[in-house]
Amino acid sequence: MHYLMKLFFSLSLFFVGINGAVGSNQPSQANKNPKLFVFGNSYADTGNMKPTALSWKLPYGITFPGKPSGRYSDGLTATDFLAKQLGAKLPYLWRTHGKKKVKLNRGMNFAFGGSEVFDSPVDRSPNISTQVGFLVNLALARRVYTIDGDLASSYALLSYSGTDYYGFIDQNPNMAAYPAFVEFIVEDIQYSLGIMNG
Ligand SMILES: *[C@@H]1O[C@H](CO)[C@@H](O)[C@H](O)[C@H]1NC(C)=O
Repeated sequence: MHYLMKLFFSLSLFFVGINGAVGSNQPSQANKNPKLFVFGNSYADTGNMKPTALSWKLPYGITFPGKPSGRYSDGLTATDFLAKQLGAKLPYLWRTHGKKKVKLNRGMNFAFGGSEVFDSPVDRSPNISTQVGFLVNLALARRVYTIDGDLASSYALLSYSGTDYYGFIDQNPNMAAYPAFVEFIVEDIQYSLGIMNG
């Protein structure tokens, strides 16, 4: 694949229907009690950062819900929009529900503002593979998620955007190594999602 295509692929906000076509209006088994699992960064975080983070301070949240809500937005995030589109309840937040004995019947949001595919020294938000690991551990530990019962109605939103690239360009202004770095990013995303499938 041409690296620009890969760049587009990895820069775009995209979602993967684990099973079934997202966006189809055909009622199907896959659309019954849909559960949304969210991985990524501030475009998708609905409140996973600690209450001391900027996302809990004005002017965030002034349009919705009228005060800061942990979203890096004046209003809704990609997670809110996609949940609405799917007819799904807003997924539980990892920060508040990850340690509670809830079932995963509403899905869960593992996205953190500032998350990257690769670690950055200035940014301690869990990276993509750590977030996928949260789900794997949760599902295994609680045995509340089954392939037979839940997979067909599950959707995943994966939201990664520019932060990995900004950091790289800062340190490598001549861009010669950029195409290879883009490949690393795409491969890591594929690897992390592979863990999720297996
Ligand atoms: C993701 O974070 C974990 C935990 O900090 C770290 O061990 C791992 O190397 C990171 N992965 C990448 C690709 O940077």
